[in-house]
Amino acid sequence: MTETPEATALIPAPRRIVLDQHRHGRLDEGTRLEAGPGTEGVARWLRATLGAATGFPLPDGGGRPEGGERESRLALSIEEDLPPEGYRVVVDGPAILIQGGSAAGVFWGAQTFRQLLGPDAYRRAPVRPGREWDLAAVTIEDSPRFRWRGLMLDVSRHFMPKDGVLRYLDLMAAHKLNVLHFHLTDDQGWRVEIKRFPKLTETGSWRARTKFGHGDSPLWEEKPHGGFYTQDDIREIVAYAAERHITVVPEIDVPGHSQAAISAYPELGNTDVIDTTSLSVWDSWGISENVLAPTDNTLRFYEGVFEELLELFPADTAEFSEFVHVGGDECLKDQWRQSPTAQARIEELGLADEDELQSWFIGHFDKWLSARGRRLIGWDEILEGGLADGAAVSSWRGYRGGIAAARAGHDVVMCPEQQVYLDYRQHGGPDEPVPIAYVRTLEDVYRFEPVPPELTADEARHVLGTQANVWTEVMEDSGRVDYQTFPRLAAFAEVAWGSLPAPAERDFADFERRMTAHYRRLDALGVGYRPPTGPLPWQRRPGVLGRPIEGAPPNK
Ligand code: ACM
Repeated sequence: MTETPEATALIPAPRRIVLDQHRHGRLDEGTRLEAGPGTEGVARWLRATLGAATGFPLPDGGGRPEGGERESRLALSIEEDLPPEGYRVVVDGPAILIQGGSAAGVFWGAQTFRQLLGPDAYRRAPVRPGREWDLAAVTIEDSPRFRWRGLMLDVSRHFMPKDGVLRYLDLMAAHKLNVLHFHLTDDQGWRVEIKRFPKLTETGSWRARTKFGHGDSPLWEEKPHGGFYTQDDIREIVAYAAERHITVVPEIDVPGHSQAAISAYPELGNTDVIDTTSLSVWDSWGISENVLAPTDNTLRFYEGVFEELLELFPADTAEFSEFVHVGGDECLKDQWRQSPTAQARIEELGLADEDELQSWFIGHFDKWLSARGRRLIGWDEILEGGLADGAAVSSWRGYRGGIAAARAGHDVVMCPEQQVYLDYRQHGGPDEPVPIAYVRTLEDVYRFEPVPPELTADEARHVLGTQANVWTEVMEDSGRVDYQTFPRLAAFAEVAWGSLPAPAERDFADFERRMTAHYRRLDALGVGYRPPTGPLPWQRRPGVLGRPIEGAPPNK
């Protein structure tokens, strides 16, 4: 038994835990894995994961155990007394029970069980053959606060190859996060194969060079950057996520953040304002003024894109799989103001201005998706000019959009930039690599409250949950993504899952204590997190310009 038993260092902390250090359970060569009805997928995951880490075969435990009562046994079952994603883990003598209100609940219980086993359970091969896997006897009962516990990954600004995405799904699962918001398109790259429009990836998925550092940096990386997921890659990612009870919500960003698409198909842009044939995939950062033209051709084109997308991201029984994210953020209107075509459309539709034109554009896809049994979700700009029933909002410009949306009866995912943009720097020191925006420490994220106090209980019911957003302009590789994302994602996971008190009353010291055990888990997983003492030499980026903002973030 270790000095600090893993059971007292769980992240996220469970609702209820009863520990008996005088009794034990164990996993050994003979442990049988008994999968009750509906838990076969979790058994497969456990056998693959813990089997690799321990070297134990975990044979099927169906039927009578040959070793009788003393034989160790890991039994999975779905129990109706538990909430859908809730679970119970009981370690007591030779029997270990992992029970859930659904297969998802059993899976989250299995994640907790893995934490109980210690950091070596996160490795892919045994490092101490012959060791005993002893556990203190424990009963844990747990269930999540929020249904939407998300991570947004921007794979457009810097492409993350498929293996990296699968790895992030594993990291999300280890933190009981269940929605991957997959930001697949932007000005700097189109990342999903669309068969009827091959140039989206032939032309749109790469750029000849990349700005190194933030927009004002004079540095360039003078080599092509790019990549995309084939349709089978996407199917694999979606299926891999589903095995981990994670839903992937794809984002195709319209009508702004679309320069990569316009560079592939110049007719999508405002051809009466600029020569769109001269555009290439953007190689710097910021907000491009090259936005989609509000024409029938553009609408038909994107209907074609979404038709293929709906097949790749089926709305099956998984929670939230009906959602399709259409972006809608930061659409500059200068070209629409200058475009006779856009102005004629405003006139024809009887709209007041360009903001209403954007609202019409988003509204079109809202109806189009609804007619196909889907739900639209977009960044909070989509509220401007009115939003159809059923559409949901990702509240990123502070809480305000989320508050307005919830009051208007729309579902909301809270992801205010001032709180949970993980590209923002996590320390004010000079060694912080490519520092962006405000300082958001581990403690700041731990004290993030997704439900603003302004909402009544009824309005707060529209808060589906929360997500942390990882924008990758200054994250050129997975090491940089790890550094920005961890350890803060562990604090975020506790906020999204746990039943924490009000921010000021949260016991950050206890969280830090538990993090000492969690860092060992992240080490075993090979996560390049930011150490509490600051960046390691190879995590620094001396001389690479960021864009820090001094002072505390505005409270909005
Ligand atoms: C965003 O950060 N533009 C959603």
